[in-house]
Amino acid sequence: MVNPTFTDMRPELGQPVEDLETPVVVADLDAMERNLERFRELADKHEVAVRSHIKAHKTPAIARRQAEVLEGGVLCQTLSEAEVMARYGIEDVLLVCPVVSEPKLDRLCWVADHVDCFAVLADEPEHVARLGTAAGRNDTTVGVVLEVDVGLGRLGVEPGNPAVDVAEAVREQPGLAFDGILGHDGHVPYIASSESELEELCAGVAADLEETVEALEGAGVTVDRVTSGATATAPLMAGEDAVTELDPGRYIFNDAALLEQGAVDRADCGATVVTTVIGRPTEDRAIVDAGSKTLSYVDGPDPVPVGRDDVSFYRKSSEHGFVDVSEADIAVGDRLEFVVPNLWAVANLHDTLPAVRDGRVEEVWHVEARGKDT
Ligand SMILES: Cc1ncc(COP(=O)(O)O)c(C=O)c1O
Repeated sequence: MVNPTFTDMRPELGQPVEDLETPVVVADLDAMERNLERFRELADKHEVAVRSHIKAHKTPAIARRQAEVLEGGVLCQTLSEAEVMARYGIEDVLLVCPVVSEPKLDRLCWVADHVDCFAVLADEPEHVARLGTAAGRNDTTVGVVLEVDVGLGRLGVEPGNPAVDVAEAVREQPGLAFDGILGHDGHVPYIASSESELEELCAGVAADLEETVEALEGAGVTVDRVTSGATATAPLMAGEDAVTELDPGRYIFNDAALLEQGAVDRADCGATVVTTVIGRPTEDRAIVDAGSKTLSYVDGPDPVPVGRDDVSFYRKSSEHGFVDVSEADIAVGDRLEFVVPNLWAVANLHDTLPAVRDGRVEEVWHVEARGKDT
């Protein structure tokens, strides 16, 4: 008997999905293409750009597809994600986290030198001073996008006048160029309890951004870029006059959290986990082979069953998923598929992502920025 190696378990081009070893997260190419098209139409309708957040997939092959269809750049959350994207030929990168240590700032300058368009978030004169020194040391120019806190309560200056001090600090640094403002509205869908409240909150974010643009322009700072509008809010933010660029991430495949918020439909969800029932210990409980090591521990909704409404995933431990099958006819060895609960977290857990069409693997993507958190 030949000993199988781990490579025998890798997805292969043309392989039927039902033959893939489980647990496996698969990407639905048709859903992805529809989601890209939807954002292209939104962008065309409102004449805004779309800059895709790669934390939702961490995969250069997908970032290239986004850049082709939407003609926009990417956002990266970490410097090492930005390095991966630069190495794989993505030419327009916005790093949405301030960088403060010297070695990292030198790496950041390498990225700035190796792509056509690069900018990083800063929201304090201290960020600007460190960045300016690094740009001088590396003899390069770095774009700076100022983060405005539009209610998330994480980083960012308060809307309005506080932006002016930071923009002036940028102006004093010969190696830096002011490149606009960003207000991340990720909190909005979590606190809106109705469509009208969502509209109100989005209008509030836009008003904060407008107030900041007015303060900056009043101080003689030109603001060419105003970025806001994640997956759940993009359809509303796109119509706001202040916004020039949307910054959605999960729209590429969506997830159970967006489903729960009513932001997307089941057909829009293109990232699913295929599992195998490994035990049927009681009448009402089946255990599948996907737990938090496949799906992550992140809080939020449970995975949503695909193609059947007689089962529900209700708990996970490291390698086990607990499924209520009291209403279902389920046996050991059956396969169950679920929409992933949280795309940001799941994208960080897998080396490869088989992309599937008509039940077969059409492409196998390498999740090159997986684990890149430095
Ligand atoms: C600054 C910024 N923009 C955009 C996004 C994308 O959000 P979503 O995946 O909900 O579209 C994130 C997500 O964390 C973010 O931090």
